[in-house]
Amino acid sequence: MPRQPFIAGNWKMNKTIGEGIALVEELKGMVAGIDDVDIAVCPTFVALAKVGDAIRGSNIMLGGQDTFWKESGAWTRQIAPGMLLDAGCRWVIIGHSETRGRFGTVEDELERVLSYFGEKDITVNMKAKAAFAAGLTPIIACGELLSERQAGRTDQVIAGQMKIDLDGFAKEDAMKIVLAYEPVWAISTGQVCDAEEADRVCGLIRAIVKDMYGADVAEAVRIQYGGSVKPDNAAELLGKPNIDGALVGGASLKANDFVGIINGARA
Ligand code: PGA
Repeated sequence: MPRQPFIAGNWKMNKTIGEGIALVEELKGMVAGIDDVDIAVCPTFVALAKVGDAIRGSNIMLGGQDTFWKESGAWTRQIAPGMLLDAGCRWVIIGHSETRGRFGTVEDELERVLSYFGEKDITVNMKAKAAFAAGLTPIIACGELLSERQAGRTDQVIAGQMKIDLDGFAKEDAMKIVLAYEPVWAISTGQVCDAEEADRVCGLIRAIVKDMYGADVAEAVRIQYGGSVKPDNAAELLGKPNIDGALVGGASLKANDFVGIINGARA
């Protein structure tokens, strides 16, 4: 069975509720009838429910940008997977480098410790399991820093993340997981990863999945590439055998650009 391409827009900390509704209203008309690409948008938490109302009945799905591993309780700031489901989500991004607190270089790690969330592989794994338990499907992101790539450690970093992030799922859940290879140095920099190299790392990720869960799961799992995907580089990336979609940041904020990428998956 060929894997259906999946293009997800991660709006990050952009768009008010009104702006988000306006964007999906525009998108709805432009993607109506497309059934050979899965399409999702991931607005901020506060915009989820309203954007979810606006896309109900369309072929655009809703995703959260993060979640927590507890169902409810005294966890200030956190959003439970069941709450995302309740708001209309079907997907949730987990382990994005911005929630892992991985930016730029290893030197920037101090900033991560002081200012950001410092997600760990073990919490990525716990969140993904909690997402399945609530009826969501996780999109798990991984990727290396520039300094790790320059030190020739890319494959080791990716394997280290994947082995913990993907540990211990039921096989039927593992099959549904979406993985996103997002080299940190390519995110929001305009410096896209070379398509051959992105395909090579996505192939490595698929091989790790095969080791952990077998060939049938590795064949079924969709692996997105993320990091400066734009309409003009989408078709080349999405044409590669191991790249099954894209996790799109900046270019998902404009309907024309996002649709250009969706069309790249159909080229
Ligand atoms: P970008 O972000 O497309 O703006 O580079 C990608 C991502 O962070 O998922």
